[in-house]
Amino acid sequence: MTMAGIEGTDMMTGFGNHFATEAVVGALPIGRNSPQHIPFGLYAEQLSGTAFTAPRATNRRSWLYRMRPAANHPAYIPYDRATALRSGPCAEVPPTPNRLRWNPLPMPATPTDFVDGLTTYVVNGNAGAGMGVGIHLYAANLSMGSRAFYNADGEMLIVPQEGALWIVTEMGVFNIEPQQVALIPRGIRFRIALPDGMARGYVCENYGAPFRLPDLGPIGSNGLANVRDFETPEAWFEDRDEAFEIVQKFMGRLWTTTLDHSPFDVVAWHGNLAPCRYDLRRFNTMNTVSYDHPDPSIFTVLTSPSDTPGTANCDFVIFPPRWMVAEGTFRPPWFHRNVMSEFMGLVHGTYDAKATGFLPGGASLHNCMSGHGPDRASYDDAVATDLKPDKIEDSMAFMFESRFIFQPTRFAIETPLCQPDYDDCWSGFRKAELPQ
Ligand SMILES: [Fe+2]
Repeated sequence: MTMAGIEGTDMMTGFGNHFATEAVVGALPIGRNSPQHIPFGLYAEQLSGTAFTAPRATNRRSWLYRMRPAANHPAYIPYDRATALRSGPCAEVPPTPNRLRWNPLPMPATPTDFVDGLTTYVVNGNAGAGMGVGIHLYAANLSMGSRAFYNADGEMLIVPQEGALWIVTEMGVFNIEPQQVALIPRGIRFRIALPDGMARGYVCENYGAPFRLPDLGPIGSNGLANVRDFETPEAWFEDRDEAFEIVQKFMGRLWTTTLDHSPFDVVAWHGNLAPCRYDLRRFNTMNTVSYDHPDPSIFTVLTSPSDTPGTANCDFVIFPPRWMVAEGTFRPPWFHRNVMSEFMGLVHGTYDAKATGFLPGGASLHNCMSGHGPDRASYDDAVATDLKPDKIEDSMAFMFESRFIFQPTRFAIETPLCQPDYDDCWSGFRKAELPQ
């Protein structure tokens, strides 16, 4: 499909900033959020991303000024197409303590858009209780035309691995490509077109507290993902009086209805709840300049806190290109067992703890207390190498880490993409030799 008319949408910068934007001059009311008379007869609508009474520092809401209220729709009915989308809780198969790794998800054999191309691998928590996440991969080869999607269960962090995405949202339009991510707030209606004709990637659907930037503590006022590098679109709308399907995810199930107009009719908006994109290549990576391999939390891009301080509902962590200079140190990730559960993906390149088997578009799962770490080839190389400054280049791995144990779906366990021999990468380690 043509993307003419939306390619030039401007972006504003900042994360959680209060933005104000209008696609038609004079559309945005001044002073009052819901004046008696709104310019051009637009309708005012508040979109709340946090409870009304959330503390000011974490309160997220925006005011949308649109051609018709979002309430103007017929009843939703159950979606009748097959879907591989699942939500927490999900008990299709017994939970497994085993380490799992998957080969990349193949492109679909039939025309499939972003919504129908979502396949859930793991879930945790409870969508209805507002805790936990669902982790999906998508593989799609069809643009969404007169079709929009929104998620009442959580916000969606989209991590493309192959193929760009044009994302039309109620609050503006933007594109992302691999090594960029998009964050779509809960409830925002969007559609995705595929300028490359196909796309594959990962989605973290966050049922919990909205993702935010982590505190920096002693790092100071700059570093990691910088606020100014998050980009939010300016207002954009389309005036299309034609049939438009809306699919929503609600309590783990999909529902559908049809409007007689495009839902992308927001002419102006202001507030601090908005979709955004971030380029992972702008991450200001911190690392040791003396010895040891720091905890990977030092690479946190975004965090969704839980009720326990420092124990995230979900952290989004990346492993970007970086210099390795630690002296007298085993430089790759160490062997470890973690109370937190880890789901990893790879956008491109190789990951420094795995010589083979962890492929771009693939994934791995190391649940709570599962022993994992470098495979034998990576270990042997790391202990034999001459430690000079060395740069990891052309690589972008990432992790969704959660306090809640991940439950695989039936698909994740039964698909032939699941590698039956993953455990073997930790076999054959030489036994330590103690003095006699
Ligand atoms: Fe780990």
